[in-house]
This record gives sequence, structure tokens and C-alpha cells, in this order.
Amino acid sequence: MKPNSIYANITAVGKYLPESIITNQHFETELDTSDDWIVSRTGIKQRHKVSNGQASVYMAVKAVEDLFRNSNVSSGDIDSIIVCTITPDMFFPSCACLVQKEIGANKAWGFDLSAACSGFVFGLETASNMIQSGNYKKIIVIGVDTMSSILDYTDRNTCILFGDGAGAVLLESNSTHGIMDSILKVDGNGGDYLYMPGGGSLNPTTEKTIANKLHYVKQDGANVFKRAVKGMTNVTLELMSRNQLSSNEIDLFIPHQANKRIIESVANKLNLNDEQVLINIDKYANTTAATIPIGIHDAINRKKLKHNDNLILSTFGAGFTWGSMYIKWNSDD
Ligand code: COA
Repeated sequence: MKPNSIYANITAVGKYLPESIITNQHFETELDTSDDWIVSRTGIKQRHKVSNGQASVYMAVKAVEDLFRNSNVSSGDIDSIIVCTITPDMFFPSCACLVQKEIGANKAWGFDLSAACSGFVFGLETASNMIQSGNYKKIIVIGVDTMSSILDYTDRNTCILFGDGAGAVLLESNSTHGIMDSILKVDGNGGDYLYMPGGGSLNPTTEKTIANKLHYVKQDGANVFKRAVKGMTNVTLELMSRNQLSSNEIDLFIPHQANKRIIESVANKLNLNDEQVLINIDKYANTTAATIPIGIHDAINRKKLKHNDNLILSTFGAGFTWGSMYIKWNSDD
């Protein structure tokens, strides 16, 4: 639990998924795969994909516009913008600067945060501490990724797993509700199992790096799978113990959506039933930093979050990065 009584509370949520949908059937015509394999091994039925000219900033702005439709706050009130992404439009300027301009958040500063699939939870923790400092009143945290820009669509091991999307939340201070606690972790030994080697300062883009496909996601799926189950389970148990929460006191668990079998395995180890766990991977696949804010948005739409509910977010991603967060949900409904 945080020592003081200022909590960062989620007061509005927005999301955006691009119009274009790629079904599993599409991959059946392009690759040696099947709808049946993809659904049974991952739970994914479809994923969204940006159109030409659209990328992370475009989706982030759309998610923030949706957020403003669900809030009395306007862009001029925003103190800071944190964009969590591993697929920024470009190295610089940051997505945060480009979003700030597009939404007209005239007094906001901001930055991008890179922690792969864990980016959004890491961003929430950062923003929570900024709110608790008393220096910032209204912060937008965005999780967004344009995974289609870094996927090798000839590699059936990776391309079927990911989708494009964005989610955004507004954090404001509250004396009783909001982010109560979190445990976050990194282990750089995981770097060999999920990474993109090309395009950075180590392997700047050349004809050779492109020919060797270094600008695409590389993954040892089986290893990531095992570490994700172990990491998310153990960190959530640690968080539950620290906050004296038993399994039946968790009203909703929103895990990162990487693979339905990972989610079911973690939920099983945490002794949670189907009603306690949000799953939407069938519609969106793994949207990396966007899965959890999109999950919160869907939970609200499905009326799965009530005032005073105990909400646990849990994530795992490249790095390795992982962690869980406990939120006491505040709702005026
Ligand atoms: N269609 C058909 N077959 C496929 C396939 C696809 N899209 N992708 C992989 N296969 C094949 C493999 O090539 C392998 O074939 P082989 O035995 O002839 O070599 C076979 O399926 C089994 O592979 P395996 O790795 O054992 O399958 P799996 O049950 O572990 O599922 C993943 C593979 C990638 C779905 C799974 O490991 C996974 O989801 N890992 C975590 C990935 C992830 O979540 N990453 C992001 C973390 S944030």
C-alpha cells in the first residue's frame, strides 16, 4: 500500500482499433497454417491492422479523442502525456510530442516509455507517482502499438500473434480509490527470447539488415510462454499477499493478452474463475502495450467493473519485463 492518501485514479478510458481486420482465414491462404491451429493454440480469431499512412500516433490520438468523449476534461487541462510503445512513428520526435500537438494539450509535457507488452503498466506506475507527488493533476497514459510495422508476414510463428491498437486512460488524484500498489520487474536475460535486432544504433538499417530481416520481431515462443506463466503468476501472488487479497476478493483480473492458454494457465494457478478474468484476445490478438487499456475499456463496456471492485492488472513482455498492479476501482455509476 502507498504510504500517503493521494491515489492516482482512472477517471476516463478510450480505445481505438483500426477498421481493417485480418482474419485467421486470410493467413490460411498465405501461409502453412489454419484457423483451427491458431484458435486452439492461441485463442486468436482476428486482429486489426492500420491502413497506409496510419501508425501509432494516429491510433493514440483516436484513443484520446474517445477518452475525451467519456470525460468532462479537455485537452487544455492535461499536465502530462506518457505514450507507452515499442513502435513509435519515428525515433524522434517522441509520440508524446506528436500526440500533444494533435490534441492541442497546450500546457502538457510528456515522453515515450519503452517496456514492450509491459509498457502500459510501467507507464501507469510512473504516472501514479507523478500524481502522488502533488505536482500533476491530470495525466494521460496511452498504450499503443503498430505491430504490423515490425512483423514478418511470411513467418507463421510470429505474424499470427499480433495486432494493431491503442488504449488511453486519464489519471486524476483521489483520496480513497485508484492505484493502490504494484510490483514491477525486469530481467535482461530474457532479451534473447523476444527482440527486434535491426534499425537501432547497434544494427542501423542497411540493405544487409533488411535482407537478413533484422527489422522484424524474433521470438522463441515456447520459452516466452513458460516465463510469462511463471512471471505473471508469481508477481500476482506476491501482490495479493502484500495486500491481504484472497482469490475470491479479486473482482476482476485483466491480464496482458498474449495467448489465451497463458491467461488460462495463470488464472488457474491464481484460483480465479472465468467470471473474474477478462479475455478479449479473440478479437484483437496481442496489441502489445495496448492490451491492458483496451481490456479496461472492454471491461467497462461489459459492465464488469463496479464501484469498490478490486481490480488486478498483470503483464509480461520482452526484456523480460513483467508486473502486476492493484487498483481499487472508482465509479460514479
Ligand atoms: N500455424 C501452424 N503451425 C505453427 C504455427 C502456425 N501459425 N506457428 C508455429 N507452428 C508450429 C511450429 O513450427 C511447430 O512445428 P514443429 O513442431 O514442426 O517445429 C509446432 O507448431 C509447435 O510449436 P510450439 O512452439 O510447440 O507450439 P506452441 O503450442 O508453443 O505455440 C506459440 C506456439 C507461439 C503460439 C506459443 O509458444 C506462444 O504463444 N508463446 C508465447 C508468445 C507470446 O505470447 N509472445 C508475446 C509475449 S508478450
